[in-house]
Amino acid sequence: TRGRKVVEEFITLEQFIIDQQERFPHSTGAFSRLLRDISVAAKIVNRDIRRAGLVDIFGTTGKVNIHGEVQQKLDALAHEEFVRALRRGGECCLIGSEEHAEAIPLSANGEGDGRYIVLLDPLDGSSNVDVNVSVGTIFSIYRLPDEYETPTLEAALQPGSKQVAAGYIVYGSSTMLVYTTGNGVNGFTLDPSIGEFILSHPNIRIPKTGSIYSINEGNFNSFEEGLKRFIRWAQEEDKATGRPFSTRYIGSFVSDFHRNLLKGGIYMYPATKKNPEGKLRLMYEANPMAFIVEQAGGRASDGHRRILDIVPEKLHQRTPLFIGSEELVRTVEEFLQGKR
Ligand code: AHG
Ligand code: MN
Ligand code: MN
Ligand code: MN
Repeated sequence: TRGRKVVEEFITLEQFIIDQQERFPHSTGAFSRLLRDISVAAKIVNRDIRRAGLVDIFGTTGKVNIHGEVQQKLDALAHEEFVRALRRGGECCLIGSEEHAEAIPLSANGEGDGRYIVLLDPLDGSSNVDVNVSVGTIFSIYRLPDEYETPTLEAALQPGSKQVAAGYIVYGSSTMLVYTTGNGVNGFTLDPSIGEFILSHPNIRIPKTGSIYSINEGNFNSFEEGLKRFIRWAQEEDKATGRPFSTRYIGSFVSDFHRNLLKGGIYMYPATKKNPEGKLRLMYEANPMAFIVEQAGGRASDGHRRILDIVPEKLHQRTPLFIGSEELVRTVEEFLQGKR
């Protein structure tokens, strides 16, 4: 939008990507094409999800994925759509997906193999998909380091601070795509009548604090002491700090995250008895959202370390996650570190 006289009343994602590309004069356009490939897959998955009640794609595949989760048909379908779009686009050389145990090298098609790695949660919140509650897709993009001729899993296991882009799609009351390339966070709303994502939320900033907390309180008894104290603190009456907070937790991380990004708040998935390392996966849930939240002025940690500094060891490793408004994340860290 630099220098562009705003003649039309809207900017499409395609135009926005091209405008952004112009900031990098020597860019080949490969990254722009990769983002476009992802947005095409998002429109296809959106179409499938909007039809889910009408065609036989509710329910489970009968399979259990590597996480021991019953795989929903839409988990598998979203996975296939994104893999197909990325393979067709040719800019991606390796995919790491929640729904596939191993990293997936996209066939070396000889000429100019893709130099980008995409980590993917094809369908987030899939336990909700049969009950018509919003679900999402989360993606994280790294460059294949120059020293690699061909992509390997270790090339994908880079700390979140090395991401070149991260984003999510939320299939909610409207379908939105929100992403960052390290120059702030922008949100686009799909106009189904023309099949285009339109810039609707330029330069998203998360409020420095908020009065919403998102956590599955069913696990309260297995929370560590500091977290129990934070939750009790959140429920005390104190008008000056907007307490008692409201609790909002719908069981789709993308939706809970998106609401807190716009309104202010904190999402927490701590270590629990059932998930001693936390439940969310570092590579395709915590890292991409941590990049986005920091670019919007927020904070993301595992209670002690910045998420983006964690050096990954496994594709599907989990991490405790505290993410959202900077002051709220700092406050829960103080409780967890015994400073309050
Ligand atoms: P996914 O559907 O990709 O496996 O992710 C589900 C995650 C996250 O979306 C959600 O916030 C969380 O699981 C809910 O977990 P609980 O049901 O244990 O609260
Ligand atoms: Mn899952
Ligand atoms: Mn998920
Ligand atoms: Mn998922």
